[in-house]
Amino acid sequence: MTKIFITRIIPDPGLVLIKEHFPHFDLWTPDLPPSRIELIEQSRGVDGLLCLLTDKIDGEVMDAIGPQLKVISSMSVGVDHIDIAAATARGIPVGNTPGVLTDATADQAFALMLSAARRIPEAERFLRAGKWVTWQPSLLLGADFAGATLGIVGFGRIGQAVAKRAQGFDMRVIYHDPTHGAQSVDLDTLLRESDFVSIHVPLTEKTKHLVNAKFLAKMKPNAVLVNTSRGGVLDQTALYHALKSNQIFAAALDVTDPEPLPTDSPLLELENCIIVPHLGSASKKTRDMMSLLAAQNLVAGLKGERLPHCVNPQVYE
Ligand code: DGY
Repeated sequence: MTKIFITRIIPDPGLVLIKEHFPHFDLWTPDLPPSRIELIEQSRGVDGLLCLLTDKIDGEVMDAIGPQLKVISSMSVGVDHIDIAAATARGIPVGNTPGVLTDATADQAFALMLSAARRIPEAERFLRAGKWVTWQPSLLLGADFAGATLGIVGFGRIGQAVAKRAQGFDMRVIYHDPTHGAQSVDLDTLLRESDFVSIHVPLTEKTKHLVNAKFLAKMKPNAVLVNTSRGGVLDQTALYHALKSNQIFAAALDVTDPEPLPTDSPLLELENCIIVPHLGSASKKTRDMMSLLAAQNLVAGLKGERLPHCVNPQVYE
């Protein structure tokens, strides 16, 4: 019998599809992800693994699961939690969920940009603290969008969707793409000219701490930084110092390193830093579609078919 382990309860569309093809599977039902040991114990001997971005799947885990493993399917577009080279070396196709979360993530980047620029969370804290005594000409002033320059670092699907939204706000958009080599401007120019900088690169060896002290020092003092990609792309200590000294105006983070962010993180002391718990794709429709795509990848892999969305197609060569 085909053995499957799913590392968390995923939205119904995916579970229904899997059940249609493989009525029996093991599902991890606690709210918290399985620990590494639990993950290995539960998945030992399975043919298919459906995991989330909270599960670290490296070569050791793959070997512990065993040589019968036919497919690893992640309910995420980012796959930095999986050692892709190790999967490829073992001939295991890895599936992800591109496309379906583009709009939701671009919406989130824009929501964060607006919130940081117009100081919405800070203003709400101010009001709830009973500090609103009158309308004041200079109270909680923020930044304008019309005519401002938005610099997009990473011009893949999500970066392009953010650019589309910026056009509706009458912004000038420039971009730089360190991954694909496509670029309208070099990174220094982008940082020098942008009033808003939005990060949309995957986390790789090359992009780890791309946003560091040097990067931040090149930004304008009025600039707003938004990160909806991966926490590891940004050096949080450097960001703390840049925000604390008002070297840049504000930052808004959807992702942190580690996740969850420890509650004693100094970033949480800053009024000019917004942090939300990795919600870029958190809309009902988007999560349903991600679940469905992850299930389609899993089922295809188990049936020996090519995954509809495979990040290491070399396994088919
Ligand atoms: C992904 O799919 O990689 C996202 O970060 C989840 O929202």
